[in-house]
Amino acid sequence: MDKLNRRDALRLVGVAAGSMFAYGAAREASAADAVASPAMVEGAEAWKYAVVDPDKVARDAYEQYHAGRCMHTTFMAIVRNVGEKLADADPLASAAMLNFPFHMMKYGDSGANGWGSLCGSLNGAMAAVALFCGDSATRKTILDELGNYYERTMFPIFKPEGGEELPQSISNSVLCHVSSGKWASIAKVRTDAPERTERCSRLSADVAKKTAELLNLYLTSGVADEAKAALLSKRPEPAASCIKCHNKGGETSDVIGKMTCNECHPEKTVDHHN
Ligand code: HEC
Ligand code: HEC
Repeated sequence: MDKLNRRDALRLVGVAAGSMFAYGAAREASAADAVASPAMVEGAEAWKYAVVDPDKVARDAYEQYHAGRCMHTTFMAIVRNVGEKLADADPLASAAMLNFPFHMMKYGDSGANGWGSLCGSLNGAMAAVALFCGDSATRKTILDELGNYYERTMFPIFKPEGGEELPQSISNSVLCHVSSGKWASIAKVRTDAPERTERCSRLSADVAKKTAELLNLYLTSGVADEAKAALLSKRPEPAASCIKCHNKGGETSDVIGKMTCNECHPEKTVDHHN
């Protein structure tokens, strides 16, 4: 008993000493708080960006899909490509990017842990936009464009070398549930079939590529604002009108959302509210 107690006591002293050390380290860290990540753009809430090759980003997203699925792969493909581009010019920033704790993005799989909500490929792409884009107006413009693109594009477009053609579908929705379900129905496969996984890895490549193109355009090109605006897709009617009235800041302002309304309210028209 005595021995045990002494050992316990010694262990406790060790723990106390350890925690005092940890406390000291934490104090030092907080004193040094002003030292930002080497990837940070000085004076902005953004990480440094460098022009990337959108086709390489697409290939990487496709090839690394199985490491952590949709959200993980779009985010990682974009951030790693920027990190690789900065390797010579800014090795510290590059290292911070290549060593990002990418595993945190694994939660986004199948619309957030299988819940079928926001498509993970879009979620990861949007996270990357927020990481690199410090100006909020620009960030919101790019994010809206990604949402529009996702809802209205025939996916998948990407085809790996030697890969077979896959059926394509338009989701009209940013939800994984709707997007994967519609595709599976058109392709006549179950959602647990390997073809559905292949479709989502190609879709991830498409979303990652589009995101890289938008980041290249907005963060590095020097293209005039009007020219950029002309490239943005317009939200078709009636969704545009529904949103103007019902979303935050609108006439009725009774819901939040920019999704395509008629997917779930098919009976509603702009002027007929029975
Ligand atoms: C000019 C503004 C305006 C536009 C445009 C508009 N709404 Fe409405 N909407 C209203 C108002 C006002 C109400 C409230 C009616 C009520 O409370 O009885 C309403 C109610 C609703 C409701 C819920 C109540 C119900 O009666 O079921 C839904 C759902 C809805 N609108 C969907 C839509 C959709 C979808 C569109 C686009 C196709 C749309 N709205 C376009 C003004 C608008
Ligand atoms: C993914 C499906 C989905 C989409 C897309 C969707 N809604 Fe809804 N909406 C719902 C559901 C579910 C409810 C709740 C219905 C209920 O309570 O009866 C609802 C409720 C509403 C209501 C009624 C709120 C109230 O007063 O009770 C309005 C208004 C509305 N939606 C407008 C819109 C508009 C405008 C859009 C497009 C920007 C839209 N919705 C897109 C599913 C959707």
